[in-house]
Amino acid sequence: MRTDTPQAIYLKDYTPPAFQIETVDLDISIEAGFACVTASLACQRNPAAADPSASLVLNGEDLKLESVRLDGRPLGQGEYVLCADQLMIHAELPDSFTLTTVSTINPDGNTQLSGLYRSKDGYFTQCEAEGFRRITWFLDRPDVMAKYTVTIHADKAQFPVLLGNGNPVGAGDEEGGRHWAKWEDPFRKPSYLFAMVAAKLDMLEDWFVTKSGRKVRCAVYVEPGKLDQCGHAMAALKKSMKWDEDVFGLEMDLDHYMIVAVGDFNMGAMENKGLNIFNTKYVLARPDTATDIDFQNIDRVVAHEYFHNWTGNRVTCRDWFQLSLKEGLTVFRDQQFGMDMHSAGVTRIQEVRTLRTAQFPEDAGPMAHPIRPASYAEINNFYSATVYEKGAEVIRMIHTLIGKDAFRKGMDLYFARHDGQAVTCEDFVAAMQDASGLDLTQFKRWYNQAGTPKLLVRGAYDAATKRFTLDVEQQYPATAYEKRLEAEGRAVARGAYHLPLVIGLLGADGRELPLRLAGESAAADTQRVLSITEDRQQFVFEDLAEAPVPSLLRGFSAPVVLDYPYSQADLTHLMARDSDAFCRWEAGQRLATDILMAGVAAFQAGSGDTLAWVPAGYVDAMRALLGSAFAPGGDPALVAEALMLPSEVVLIEATEGTVDPDAIHAARLALRRHLANELKGPFAAAYHELKIDAPYSPEATQAGARALRNACLSYIAEVDDAESLALLQNQFDSANNMTDSMAALSALAQFASPARDAALERFLAKWKDEALVVDKWLQVQSTSRAPDTGARVRALLDHPAFDIRNPNKVYALIRAFCAANPKHFHAADGSGYALAADAILQLDALNPQVAARIARSFDRWRKFDTQRQSLARMALVRVQGHDKLSRDVAEIVGKALE
Ligand code: PHE
Ligand code: ZN
Repeated sequence: MRTDTPQAIYLKDYTPPAFQIETVDLDISIEAGFACVTASLACQRNPAAADPSASLVLNGEDLKLESVRLDGRPLGQGEYVLCADQLMIHAELPDSFTLTTVSTINPDGNTQLSGLYRSKDGYFTQCEAEGFRRITWFLDRPDVMAKYTVTIHADKAQFPVLLGNGNPVGAGDEEGGRHWAKWEDPFRKPSYLFAMVAAKLDMLEDWFVTKSGRKVRCAVYVEPGKLDQCGHAMAALKKSMKWDEDVFGLEMDLDHYMIVAVGDFNMGAMENKGLNIFNTKYVLARPDTATDIDFQNIDRVVAHEYFHNWTGNRVTCRDWFQLSLKEGLTVFRDQQFGMDMHSAGVTRIQEVRTLRTAQFPEDAGPMAHPIRPASYAEINNFYSATVYEKGAEVIRMIHTLIGKDAFRKGMDLYFARHDGQAVTCEDFVAAMQDASGLDLTQFKRWYNQAGTPKLLVRGAYDAATKRFTLDVEQQYPATAYEKRLEAEGRAVARGAYHLPLVIGLLGADGRELPLRLAGESAAADTQRVLSITEDRQQFVFEDLAEAPVPSLLRGFSAPVVLDYPYSQADLTHLMARDSDAFCRWEAGQRLATDILMAGVAAFQAGSGDTLAWVPAGYVDAMRALLGSAFAPGGDPALVAEALMLPSEVVLIEATEGTVDPDAIHAARLALRRHLANELKGPFAAAYHELKIDAPYSPEATQAGARALRNACLSYIAEVDDAESLALLQNQFDSANNMTDSMAALSALAQFASPARDAALERFLAKWKDEALVVDKWLQVQSTSRAPDTGARVRALLDHPAFDIRNPNKVYALIRAFCAANPKHFHAADGSGYALAADAILQLDALNPQVAARIARSFDRWRKFDTQRQSLARMALVRVQGHDKLSRDVAEIVGKALE
């Protein structure tokens, strides 16, 4: 039985590997029921190793060792030792030698989906972070970079497509209806970027000519019959290739770039060199099967994996503590790409929403960690919102502080210095510092300190001197992370962050006022980047004839919580007039949050239903907002975002003190219904006005109009009368694309009604063979507020459409329920917690990575009342007490219970 958090490993303990591996020659034969792997490793003693006589210790997991040879000589017992997950070579080793191992593995029984595994009718690999050791014995760490060749053998009829990294260098037939193919990757790479595929797949092919004239073959491989769903991914790939050349001067370096889609995959996609493996969710799309958001996500994920070719593959991580070196930077790059391809404002707003829904709670809970953690038990638990999303914000701050041109120079310098190397976050920051001349010493605290800093800003206007004074204070209390370090007796240095605060000042007429700081001779601009470095700082703006409304943290210039005592009038003003799209949206969110918090208090006091907590002008502000979409220069996509009230998850995070999920739910729903009733006419008019007659396209303008139209639909649905039901039903029946179909289905699914049941049944009947659409069917039910949701989710676990071995299904039904349905997950009787605990235990035996992700649902359990806390604790203790718990889940529940 396991009772505590598993053993941690520490960044400070990093030492260079004792050996380097120059070349890897793999032979992988897929047989019925097993696979045989022969690996020849050309090894060399590493002159940089701490111990010049260290023995060779290879990692391996779930491998059956058949034989070991050293320079061709079979090693006998006594010359090597096999112990838990390690193969130690004790034989005397020359400075360079070839070690050959033969092992058998069981890909058909590999339910973890790490290493080589079977999915439907094919074999696929996933090696990041430590999956290569599940294929063969190896120094499975990213600072060991080798050149790989692989020969794959398999049955030709069953597995006609055999793929590897790099270039195809040979192929042929073998006895017994089998065939082989050999691939050679000309670039050195760490083992986590190895990939191979043996499957029956259809292929879409296209060509991209790079700026230097290299003709790259682009191929997208999918399950047979799905070729009509790959066009968007292919287009996204070509756009990404062009964008990286235009913006960063980075060119594709191989002759083949392949994307393979697989239905069973733990994550979104994987950037293996020249052979990306993707979750089908981020490849397959057709207007009738995928929503506008799905199309956008495909653009982003395809771009993300492509951009990794430089930021991740050509320059990789020295160790897994440096994960944000590649992930934060690559997310930043895919965000910039998204802003260039779609609406910049809307893209940024969506990112901030993700950050607040996923990363802020993480940073405030038991799993808090800096973007570069100092320790971890299981690296798979650190593919986190912090490493990815906050990591990208940190890169964005560098970009804002030094400017676009210096950032580009910094990137150039980074590649000039480190191409082909495995490096650290310091190396990246050093390149940015050297290219820009800006001292980033203090800035590096973002890599070592956890938690979301709070920025307290206060403004004061003095009419006599025409001065506006901004006082800025930062607060960064210790998180669970620092408390743990302290308990371990390890030093915790904390200090003020260096961050960019981008601001403007608005006059009463909405004009942007010129900004002249005290001591300057002339106003520089109407927007400025204030460099915040101290605990407390003051900025004095001169020559202001009127009291301005400050527009703060434009574009969300730093990942902080901003505290400024805006009046409701200020917020309405910013919402209508700010030139910065993010700040306009933010003002609306802030206004709604203030109102909803008053509503929560009213519901707790029993007076919520009176709606006395909704201020007089709010409905008019929302009416004006909706109207602005139709004014010249209006942006429907942005208005759609602004019409959406902050989610229950965001409101839970915004709550100081004990969270009451029922009151939060009640207040938010009451405000939605109030708006729906008061603005019934405008919502209906907008809905009809926005009807799209053109053929479906996922591009931004059309998608934006659809987003606003469906936002109106979701309000109309709240009126809950025959007329609105008819409208929903009509959209559901006549939709010619998945966006509209899902919008209607999701509105219908909020009510336990015969109309809901009929719609769900018809939807499943139509789409039962389209796995990704079945996922939507599951998720629309698991995220419903309808009173019977908990029971329905339980029942769906046994439905033939659900499969606990498929991560997408688990995420759609279980994770969405736990993470995006607080009302039901935090049900007062503990039924949501029990459901999660049952699922975690069942999953842990199959797929610990996925189980650990579900276990993260308990992160915020201490924010709730004592009754809920004791039920959550029971669930966590039940999980923790299970024997044979994986390291993955043990780390999560151990930290949650600390
Ligand atoms: N490295 C992948 C990405 O961010 C994510 C991933 C991690 C995929 C681990 C699989 C396993 O693009
Ligand atoms: Zn990535």
